[in-house]
Amino acid sequence: MKLETHNLTKNYGEKCAVDNVNLEFEQGIYGLLGPNGAGKTTLIKMIVGILPPTKGTVTLDDTLISKLDEKYRDLLGYMPQDIGYYRTFTAKQFLEYIALLKGLEPKEAEKKIDTLLDMVGLSDAKGKRLGQFSGGMIRRVGIAQALLNDPKILVLDEPTAGLDPKERIHFRNILSELSLDRIVILSTHIVSDVESIAGKVILLRLGKVITFDTNENLLHSMEGKVWDATVTHQELDRLKTQFTIGNAFQKDSGFEVRIVSDVKPTENATPAEPSLEDVFIYHFGGLDYDNI
Ligand SMILES: Nc1ncnc2c1ncn2[C@@H]1O[C@H](COP(=O)(O)OP(=O)(O)O)[C@@H](O)[C@H]1O
Ligand SMILES: [Mg+2]
Repeated sequence: MKLETHNLTKNYGEKCAVDNVNLEFEQGIYGLLGPNGAGKTTLIKMIVGILPPTKGTVTLDDTLISKLDEKYRDLLGYMPQDIGYYRTFTAKQFLEYIALLKGLEPKEAEKKIDTLLDMVGLSDAKGKRLGQFSGGMIRRVGIAQALLNDPKILVLDEPTAGLDPKERIHFRNILSELSLDRIVILSTHIVSDVESIAGKVILLRLGKVITFDTNENLLHSMEGKVWDATVTHQELDRLKTQFTIGNAFQKDSGFEVRIVSDVKPTENATPAEPSLEDVFIYHFGGLDYDNI
């Protein structure tokens, strides 16, 4: 199974939100990573076929998804960034409703719903109304509804927003298992969401793909570009004007800083093991995202 985008482009008036995107997805987890406004949601909506592109196409095994139509939807599980949900429905009622829309047999749906509620840890809350759910619980219902039809292509837009650390880990484990025989595309602006699970990472900036590579290669590409140093407050201020600074921790001895730079930034800097966070910082700048 091969899902591809060809010169996929979306303009909103003058604004180009997605700019000539060419991607290829096969089995595995793909992390679509970029800051807010990078075009992730727009790209995803075109991939799932709910937003017509201004230019370009999406194909599955060389057939246009618009041609496949219902066949494509049967293969697809989609969790939108803003889950439209029904506050007065219980979790179970909501999933039954979606199952009906997806055309599942009621008996089959019943079983599937119980399994999925268990999987996302909501069995005990299935009779509770969605209006009383926390943000994290709503996300989990969202993930469950996307899985109802056992999709071969699972697309999740910012699925971990609102999840607490424990829920995040649980969620990562669920996805790792699911990805064995399907395409999973997950968008996020949080590096750690994709760091440990995505085989391939797409960095999106201003609607353009700036890198599309394996996690491993991305880390490899950063070798020799990441440094740790302990500096004074004054030095830190100076370094900030010249280099891209990642995390800075205040210690008794001064500030422990992470610096992403092609050259050794300061005398006492030592080379550090690159992380995906460093890749992100290298391409998007430090913690000041104003100019992205
Ligand atoms: N319906 C729309 N009309 C006009 N501009 C939009 C619309 N949706 C998104 N945009 C703009 O397109 C860009 C990409 O948005 P979006 O795809 O939501 O990015 P992300 O999901 O990465 O935060 C942003 O600048 C956003 O303001
Ligand atoms: Mg978005």
